[in-house]
Amino acid sequence: MLKPFTNQSPCLPQDPGWDDGFGFGYRELDAFWLARWTQESGWEAGRLYEQQGASLELSLAANVLHYGQAIFEGLKAHRTREDKIVLFRAIDNARRMRASAARLVMPPLPVDDFVTAVHSVVRANHKWVPGYQKGSFYLRPVMIGTGQVLGVAPAQEYLFYVFGCPAGQYMGGSRVIVLSAAHRAAPYGTGAAKTAGNYAGCLRPQKIAKEMGYVDALYLDARDDFYIEELSGANFFAILHDGTLVTPELGSILPGITRDSVLTVARELFGWLTVERRLSIEEVLSDAVEAFYVGTAAVLSPVTTINYRGIDYPIADGEPGPRAERLLQALTAIRLQEQPDHWDWVKEITI
Ligand code: COI
Repeated sequence: MLKPFTNQSPCLPQDPGWDDGFGFGYRELDAFWLARWTQESGWEAGRLYEQQGASLELSLAANVLHYGQAIFEGLKAHRTREDKIVLFRAIDNARRMRASAARLVMPPLPVDDFVTAVHSVVRANHKWVPGYQKGSFYLRPVMIGTGQVLGVAPAQEYLFYVFGCPAGQYMGGSRVIVLSAAHRAAPYGTGAAKTAGNYAGCLRPQKIAKEMGYVDALYLDARDDFYIEELSGANFFAILHDGTLVTPELGSILPGITRDSVLTVARELFGWLTVERRLSIEEVLSDAVEAFYVGTAAVLSPVTTINYRGIDYPIADGEPGPRAERLLQALTAIRLQEQPDHWDWVKEITI
């Protein structure tokens, strides 16, 4: 049973663990957002509910439970040095969720509704936003098909909900492995949509990679098994000997918002040559002077070793490189309003 959240709803007495640092895990905070869609009324306005003990009741035949109509987003709020709370590129997440919805024949949520929802969740849980440089507040918007189906068909009812968690480092290791016979997405498949199923399909390669001592699998394309796509939950970049910043072209990979931020900062702020194109594993192993992966949760982490066909190849001298570090510093400073935001990416949330 869901209880509407009021400003009088008590804040949790739990110790958030501010001083221990945060991992990347779920915890029940004070409030989450929920909105329903029905064929008759479309998207309702949505509202906050108390999160403690909250759960959803679904029909056994809800589409999401057997045909997998589920899409999601990830975005972050931070606390600045001046104790303001700022959110990064929420409008872009809203737009990407609309694109994912279109791919799975789900009702696209208006951008303003998405932005209202994430702002409301941050505001209601503002005490959980970690202090300056102590971590981030990670938001997880989700949309699922709840209507009952038996044959393969889109649901006739949907839920959109948003919860948040104080979050620390996600992933962070620098060794990745190309596994034989493990692809993430196929041409013309759902690789570019942020669907739950894409991540379910990565669980086995990710588990194998971890058991072998790597932080994650690095996927190659499904057609040629030769061109780099991405990791299970992060996009891939390489810097080549001639200084070009290269990242795999869009198509069957996730159009990452951190990916786009990195390309924009590199091109417009640093004046680097940036290219989105097919990038073969052999080109990276023979010509990369730096490599790194990026994502909202992962932020930006250097790749120092790639295992390919059973051999560990160091990238350049096997040490993190200066240009990845420079990009990380710039992105961090822009997100925290410590460097000009020429693109209007950062929005303050008034509490
Ligand atoms: C994110 O980076 O926000 C994601 O949604 C990826 C997920 C694997 C944590």
